[in-house]
Amino acid sequence: MKLAPSILSADFAELADEVERVADQADLLHVDVMDGHFVPNLTIGPPVVKSLRKRTDLYLDCHLMVDNPGEFLEDFADAGADGCTIHIELGDPRPLFARMRELGMRVGLTHNPETPVHAVLPYLEEIDVLLFMSVHPGFGGQAFISSVLDKLVTARKVVDERGLPVELEIDGGINLETAPRAAAAGADILVAGSAIFHAEDPAAAARRIREAAWPLRS
Ligand code: DX5
Ligand code: ZN
Repeated sequence: MKLAPSILSADFAELADEVERVADQADLLHVDVMDGHFVPNLTIGPPVVKSLRKRTDLYLDCHLMVDNPGEFLEDFADAGADGCTIHIELGDPRPLFARMRELGMRVGLTHNPETPVHAVLPYLEEIDVLLFMSVHPGFGGQAFISSVLDKLVTARKVVDERGLPVELEIDGGINLETAPRAAAAGADILVAGSAIFHAEDPAAAARRIREAAWPLRS
């Protein structure tokens, strides 16, 4: 299993230090990109990824919550993103998968809590990561939507039956209580923002999440 602290809840004025604080407990760094259209919030883009790339060797996992991700894939690749994740709600993702591969990035697909898992299952053979949104995308610090665990269980079963290398990632409301539940449902990667960066000691908070969740993953 892997832990991906989400920098959305970090102090952006101290971003490199914030990342450094959790680096030992992090397997990836989750970067939330929002455009104020696809989601009602505005965050960061390729220039910040480029600056982060110079300060960390961690895998940069860019979650694109924008209306037009295709227009930015090259910028993210140039900035040093290791992988980008796009939303199925935008329509046929295949042309963007091809573009991400050409650019040497790992391919992620995600879906909102209310989108049925059947909408993403047809793409499992073409992606590296399937992300489950367990909050409505746009903001950190929201409550975990438990019904998403049923979708995770379904996808875990399909992935295992087909013997696919795709990783299942869950994002939103992950904390000490929900992390073990996500692990038991079959998650490979846990994203956590506020539970880590709003804690007094972010590294200790991240370590506690690992300790709580990892034993639950079969
Ligand atoms: C929400 C983002 C999440 C967010 C999670 O739209 O995609 O990555 O950072 O934050 P928490 O862990 O606080 O729910
Ligand atoms: Zn995210």
